[in-house]
Amino acid sequence: MNDSYLMPTYKPSAVRFVSGRGAMLVDSEGREYIDLVAGLAVASVGHAHPRVAEAIAKQAAKLVHVSNLFETGPQEELATRLADLTSGMKSFFCNSGAEAVEAALKLARKHARINGRDATRFVCATDGFHGRTFGALSATGQPAKQAPFAPLVGGFTHVPYGDIAALAQAIDDDVAAVLLEPIQGEAGVIVPPHGYLSAARALCDGVGALLILDEVQTGLGRTGAWFAHQHEGIDPDVMCLAKALAGGLPMGACLARPEVASSFVPGDHASTFGGGPVQSAAALATLDVIETDGLVYRALVTGRRLMSDLANMWPGAEVRGRGLLVAVEFSSDVATEIVERALEAGLVLNATSPNTLRFAPPLVITNEQLDDALATLEEVADAVLTTT
Ligand SMILES: Cc1ncc(COP(=O)(O)O)c(C=O)c1O
Repeated sequence: MNDSYLMPTYKPSAVRFVSGRGAMLVDSEGREYIDLVAGLAVASVGHAHPRVAEAIAKQAAKLVHVSNLFETGPQEELATRLADLTSGMKSFFCNSGAEAVEAALKLARKHARINGRDATRFVCATDGFHGRTFGALSATGQPAKQAPFAPLVGGFTHVPYGDIAALAQAIDDDVAAVLLEPIQGEAGVIVPPHGYLSAARALCDGVGALLILDEVQTGLGRTGAWFAHQHEGIDPDVMCLAKALAGGLPMGACLARPEVASSFVPGDHASTFGGGPVQSAAALATLDVIETDGLVYRALVTGRRLMSDLANMWPGAEVRGRGLLVAVEFSSDVATEIVERALEAGLVLNATSPNTLRFAPPLVITNEQLDDALATLEEVADAVLTTT
């Protein structure tokens, strides 16, 4: 797209999608595709879900925006709904995952300060991903994404993910918070060893630091639990959500235990659009669909099936994940070509690195759609694998 007036931050494919339904997408030529990416783990309830579309249309016809100078019903209702799902956490609403992380970082420093802790440092994980704004990018443990924009925000320490000893060594009285993904998504769906999150919880408690879990990608049913940390039976002090929250409309949320949330006072943090009536109505409808259609359980069951099918298909590759957040790592750099050929064959896929495919389909994907997708994928990938 040489004549585009868009800044060149992406290299979009030439395929132009014009509509969707459930796990299916349709391009401008009328061709159908099975979507195994869900707009980067966003469209959990599927594309154009009628209940979400109706909620958006109804609210848009009533009131779109008044700012947070005034209370609006949908935002209050959404906060209550999220509190019910999280044993009473309080919400700050924003517009993206990175913003949810920014809010969490500010909240943690303020919480330490008003509790008399001289603690400003954050401990994060190597290869972790938390977004592209300066704070979130500083928390991100990927030097290639950070280097062009140095100097970054100070006070971030990165330790190898999944390594309890390294975490223990990095945590001291000067740590405001530990910020981790319960499963690293962008790094290629890295599931930490069982016990890692509990150890992080205990280490934080030992020094009075907060545990912030970035569930932007893993939250809201994707891994077969409402939140991925529930697989380990621990609770974070602060949790970041976005992606699936508003069914595709931009919305993020920073949730915190009430005692931590009260560290913020009016004027500390804000967002003009955060928690707007339309995105809140969309989120309420999305959460309803996830609950009433049993999508958390579906993610668990369908995810198990997907992982076992992939492992049978390529016994030499490493298949990992949880629920419907799954990756396949090949021993050679075939992922980019597989993604390109799959698209030509009517399958939307994503590679997190040259040798790793990521699967994050809508949680509503049917068994038949998955059968079709895997048959196409096997054909396409085997053609690539035999020529490399
Ligand atoms: C774990 C995690 N945190 C934060 C973000 C950033 O979210 P956004 O792109 O909405 O700012 C992402 C995006 O992929 C993510 O996966």
